[in-house]
Amino acid sequence: MYRSVQSRRPYRAAVLTFALAASACVLFAPPMAGAQSKTTAKKSTVKTSKSSTKAATKPATTSATKPTTTAATTTTAAANAQQPDGKQVYSTTCAACHQVTGEGVPGVYPPLAGSEWVNGDEAKVVRIVLHGLTGPVEVAGETFNSMMPPWGATLKDADIAAVLTYVRSTWGNKGAPITSTKVAAIRAATTSRTMPWTSAELATVK
Ligand code: HEC
Repeated sequence: MYRSVQSRRPYRAAVLTFALAASACVLFAPPMAGAQSKTTAKKSTVKTSKSSTKAATKPATTSATKPTTTAATTTTAAANAQQPDGKQVYSTTCAACHQVTGEGVPGVYPPLAGSEWVNGDEAKVVRIVLHGLTGPVEVAGETFNSMMPPWGATLKDADIAAVLTYVRSTWGNKGAPITSTKVAAIRAATTSRTMPWTSAELATVK
């Protein structure tokens, strides 16, 4: 046992030396590759010169084109660390039907862009997202008659506030932001609601 440990030591040292030598080779590869003859080092020269070009150009372009954007994004991300991203919620939860453009699909999914429901009373639009909507509804001069599923079980108050705030301030919409406190209050006031709303019912909601 003792012997074998002893005899391993030089082996370890050799491995270490080799590793160091190998990393030194990697570090000094570009100049060495250039010094080597073309036939033996063709492949490695191509590889190293490619990666060194990348390394040389990438930081230059990134820092030249995007310094302010990166800084701004970082600050926003830090500030919104706890806040859900309304645009993100929209693209995962709503865009499948209402489309990324907010234009909906004529005759099938009503538009959110330019919709009086979106820009109007928050008591109504929050209810629509919480419990869904069914039956005939007029949106921007066109009548739809379909069903929107409820999102109250899937989305938290903060998600609903964020997605509605996003929808109300995008595509030319001019609705005021909606807070998660407001969503929580409406959720609490409608706990007995199990069915999707109809536009006729919502007309009476204040
Ligand atoms: C499965 C498809 C579908 C999804 C997903 C969906 N909706 Fe709807 N939405 C509809 C349909 C259909 C109507 C119209 C219902 C009717 O005819 O009564 C509607 C109506 C609405 C309305 C009222 C009418 C209008 O166009 O302004 C709003 C506001 C709304 N949806 C917002 C949202 C938001 C916000 C989300 C994501 C959280 C969402 N919807 C997700 C299908 C969907």
